[in-house]
Amino acid sequence: MKHLLKMLDLSREEITDILNLADQLKYEQRHGIAHPRLKGQSLGMIFQKSSTRTRVSFEAGMYQLGGQALFLSSNDLQIGRGEPVEDTARVLSRYLDGVMIRTFAQSEVEQMAQFGSIPVINGLTDFAHPCQVLADLMTVRELKGKLDGLKMCFIGDGNNMMNSLIVGGLKVGMEVAVAFPAGYEPDSSVLEFAAEYDAEFAAFHTPQEAAQSADVVITDVWASMGQEGEANERREAFAGYCVDENLMKNAAADAVVLHCLPAHRGEEITAEVFEKYAGEIFEEAENRLHAQKAVMVRLMEK
Ligand code: CP
Ligand code: NVA
Repeated sequence: MKHLLKMLDLSREEITDILNLADQLKYEQRHGIAHPRLKGQSLGMIFQKSSTRTRVSFEAGMYQLGGQALFLSSNDLQIGRGEPVEDTARVLSRYLDGVMIRTFAQSEVEQMAQFGSIPVINGLTDFAHPCQVLADLMTVRELKGKLDGLKMCFIGDGNNMMNSLIVGGLKVGMEVAVAFPAGYEPDSSVLEFAAEYDAEFAAFHTPQEAAQSADVVITDVWASMGQEGEANERREAFAGYCVDENLMKNAAADAVVLHCLPAHRGEEITAEVFEKYAGEIFEEAENRLHAQKAVMVRLMEK
């Protein structure tokens, strides 16, 4: 593994290895065992979109690994004034040991990897959110003791989260069911990948069917970053795609609910369901830190 650009690039073995290392780093962190495995290294963090979890967990994580992280807002970088990604990648490779980028187009992240000579980590694009999905898989495995054979369902938009969960879930042996309104389907490359998993993958326009006997129910905002102008139209399209107590009656009795956050209570999830599963949801948020530290160690440790 040279980069973390999207779940499609990872093998099942690589995912399992990252989750195992993440568990170990979490244990060490909890028990005050220092692990300066990236001592003296620098991670650049380019943000073209807002962030709470990604920014803070990467910055704190890099510090805990003995290195430092630089917050690079695209408003301040020359990239924001039109300097090509190809040039930015080649320059940053001369100063840094790794770069994390959050942006709109997946092609920018891929270009950064193509033109730079340091590991690139996708911190969210319109297409993918691999760091979040690694943390989600880590959380499910922690809560349920396994991944293989469990049923995951995702209710909502065919966005970065749905794309990455479908691929990540299927790769680790989960059954995956998704529900989205017509016109809001996941990316065609993801559907193509999922088509190879005839028995394990199902897509519906009815959340109740997708949630049937699910062990894990996951949702995300109806309007992602960059889609704020479509919020009203999306509110209409997604009516009925709310994870509420009624929907949860379809899931397994011991099902858990996860949400990558930020959450919009009253839209994709009710306040009641959110609070009922807050323990799991904030554990999931914490696991961003551990999963990303594992990714950085695997990509950057000399
Ligand atoms: N879940 C997630 O990526 O959160 P941020 O947008 O706050 O980084
Ligand atoms: N789908 C959301 C995820 C935020 C972490 C977005 O892209 O805004």
